[in-house]
Amino acid sequence: MHIGIFETSDAASDAAAELIIDLFSRKPHATLGVATGSTPEKLYARLRAAHAAGTFTLKNSSAFALDEYVGIAEDHPQRYRNVLRRELVGKDKTGLTEAGLNTPDAGADDPEQAALVYDRMIGGSGGIDLQILGIGVDGHIGFNEPGGSLVSRTHIEALAGQTISDNARFFNGDTSQVPRRCITQGLGTIMEAKRLVLLAFGANKADAVAQLVEGPISAKWPATIMQMHPDVVAITDTAAASKLEFADLYQERWRLAKGE
Ligand code: PGA
Repeated sequence: MHIGIFETSDAASDAAAELIIDLFSRKPHATLGVATGSTPEKLYARLRAAHAAGTFTLKNSSAFALDEYVGIAEDHPQRYRNVLRRELVGKDKTGLTEAGLNTPDAGADDPEQAALVYDRMIGGSGGIDLQILGIGVDGHIGFNEPGGSLVSRTHIEALAGQTISDNARFFNGDTSQVPRRCITQGLGTIMEAKRLVLLAFGANKADAVAQLVEGPISAKWPATIMQMHPDVVAITDTAAASKLEFADLYQERWRLAKGE
């Protein structure tokens, strides 16, 4: 795992954007895995700026969301398909087309079947070249909450109490408005992406980041399965990295990889 530690989330988002823009300059039809939540917002702003500058486009690409709420109205602004539309879709955003944006069909009559179909669609597309990830305070990636299978496929998941209270800020601070269920790519699905780029900002992520990088692999901290992936880049601000025991080593290794 490569760990980049930056003073600010702005500098960290610059570094993440660079990785993505570089991938698409080499492979314009690459498939991008996209996350929602607050963490990737600055990254998406940078991708939109690069698109406006003509140095980046998703117009020939597919994007796959990590997850989607079950039981949310189709026109709800927090439905992840709508969030991702606002962030990425259109010529005035990143060039991603409506047809290029894939999200789990969580409103389907049979969401379990929809989860299966979504998993197959990812495989059928040739797989995800680069998966953007955030991390939950409880160590979830996607919505894979503690105590689940470390090799799960895309499935219906119950949101943890911690996640419901963390996400209430998107629902007028009202936990009762946060959906209780979602469809999420499974950990096994996420692990098949060729490269995983995880972002984490703020002191409230410090325990999860410490577990991700230095903890034992455990279903209690689902993100720890990423230690088994050969190409992970975790990019954090100093607050999120504050509980890493070997931060100096990771920074030296980062400089080494950059040829510094
Ligand atoms: P956040 O969520 O970016 O809103 O902090 C991250 C996550 O739950 O994966």
